[in-house]
Amino acid sequence: MSCKCGSAVKDERFVKIDQILEQNGRDESFLIQNLEQIQTALGYLPEDVQSYLAEAMDIPLSKIYGVVTFYSLFTTEPIGKHKISICLGTACYVKGAGDILAEFERQLDVKVGETTKDGKFTLQACRCLGACGLAPVLNVNGKVFGRLTADDVAGIIGQFE
Ligand code: FES
Repeated sequence: MSCKCGSAVKDERFVKIDQILEQNGRDESFLIQNLEQIQTALGYLPEDVQSYLAEAMDIPLSKIYGVVTFYSLFTTEPIGKHKISICLGTACYVKGAGDILAEFERQLDVKVGETTKDGKFTLQACRCLGACGLAPVLNVNGKVFGRLTADDVAGIIGQFE
């Protein structure tokens, strides 16, 4: 990107990445730590960010892409302000988690893995949250809700609007 004077202006995201690398280090052993902090700062890890990091850390892009797609904590898509993670582990699934997921999809007008157009909610499915006794369970921004039915969906969305 260039300003009117013609000099190149560095993308603010890349300036932020430089700061993180400066703090942590550019050695490959810092890759996960750097990716975590970059995602926290930028919200997600799109391809151009991965390419910039590959060059800045002198690591093949294919390796960075492999790490980003392997770990579920990383995302290449923008995440909504509120992240709804519905447990589809066995205990939750047999107690109706699929119906709850379908109701969230209907009320938010998104499919699992997507973010609402207003950027408020991202709907995700996850594995066992370790609260099987409360099945079916979901987690919104770290807050756990249990013993749910599809009738609870509107109330949960309402708490975060
Ligand atoms: S299966 Fe859902 S919390 Fe364990």
